[in-house]
Amino acid sequence: MIQAPKGTFDVLPDDAARRELLERTAKRILGAAGYQRIETPTFEATELFARGVGEATDIVQKEMYTFDDGGGRSLTLRPEGTAPVCRAYIEHGMHKLPQPVKLWYLSSFYRAEAPQRGRYRQFWQVGAEAIGSAAPEVDAELIVLLAELLEAMSVKGTRLSLASLGTPETRAEYREELTAYLREHEQQLSAEVRDRIDLNPMRAFDASDPSTREIMKGAPKLLDRLSPEDADHFTQVRLLLDDAGIGYDLDPTLVRGLDYYTRTLFEFSSDALGAQSGVGGGGRYDRLMELLDGPPTPGCGWAAGIERTLLSAGELPVQAIVVDLFVSLAGADLGRTAFSLAREARRAGLNAQLELAGRSLRGQLRHADRIGARYVAIVGEEGTSLKNMESGEQLELSPNEVIPAILRGSRLS
Ligand code: HAM
Repeated sequence: MIQAPKGTFDVLPDDAARRELLERTAKRILGAAGYQRIETPTFEATELFARGVGEATDIVQKEMYTFDDGGGRSLTLRPEGTAPVCRAYIEHGMHKLPQPVKLWYLSSFYRAEAPQRGRYRQFWQVGAEAIGSAAPEVDAELIVLLAELLEAMSVKGTRLSLASLGTPETRAEYREELTAYLREHEQQLSAEVRDRIDLNPMRAFDASDPSTREIMKGAPKLLDRLSPEDADHFTQVRLLLDDAGIGYDLDPTLVRGLDYYTRTLFEFSSDALGAQSGVGGGGRYDRLMELLDGPPTPGCGWAAGIERTLLSAGELPVQAIVVDLFVSLAGADLGRTAFSLAREARRAGLNAQLELAGRSLRGQLRHADRIGARYVAIVGEEGTSLKNMESGEQLELSPNEVIPAILRGSRLS
């Protein structure tokens, strides 16, 4: 039996309804703040992610689905959405538009990770990017919008972690200081952390090994090394969040696995999830546009995993589908009349289904009851009986009287 590939899943109808609700909610919340929808291709030039996400990241080193397009060009299934949106911003000259350009997306992404609950190889994200403004209000507004989305989806037990990374220059200096510290304590670090000291020393903060964790408690923190401008920007973001009543934990060791971040960095996690507790996160990426050969343009954004959002969501008010009319037939040769009645009913704005399985009349009525049809039309040789399934009332009509009778409401007599 052929099964869905490891780390992928089918979205079945019940789940699709919850996803639709999430999409509608995102559209409402982001649309109200002026974000417009964007979709970029499923695959991009590999170089976009190598440069944008960063050569040293796990994503680029081990998680990308990369293939040759047959003409010697290397393509990659998108592992994330920020670099593609920035690519589109540059390609379409969006710097000429009023700034910031505010965009949102709901798309599938691909990472060759070890699958577990909340971690898949194909997954969906809803994301928002505001490009072209360095104002701290942009960062705070984005965080507020994500908080509102998670709240509207009844995501349980959320916590917000917040940090600031400063500029790449501050980071480079800090990196040297941290590297020296790690070298000093090399013997007590796990082999994995030791091997990556030069490649990505920040990852040491992510380590689960107890001895490494102990050493990292005494490590210098980037938050204490910010330039006055960056520290001020961060203070502004925090004040705005305080005003908005959004609580957060300052987390100087927050690491998000993508190299493009500058200044504000944040992540929402949920207790309702297991090991993969990150529901959504993001930050500012003021240098990414230049890395992609675009004009220097600040940017900020986030993405939330659809699956993790729904895994940690409470009961959702998913609407049941209303079936106004089920068209059944009293004889096999009445198919054409029944078919056109169902079609006309839909054209009149009703949700109408037609008997399609050759059931007996009794079977058809049972089926109509099961799908919760409000009315059943039984198309017969002599005419059509229309039954109100709630009241049990029944009327004998000619086929062209059926739809007006339903539209008039349930008063059949
Ligand atoms: P990210 O933290 O890598 O950020 O992913 C965002 C969210 O996508 C995560 O919090 C998680 O919910 C979900 N996610 C990530 N990987 C998986 C996976 N393998 N399976 C299921 N869900 C997953 C980004 O992708 C950045 N582009 C966010 C951003 C936008 N930063 C600035 N703008």
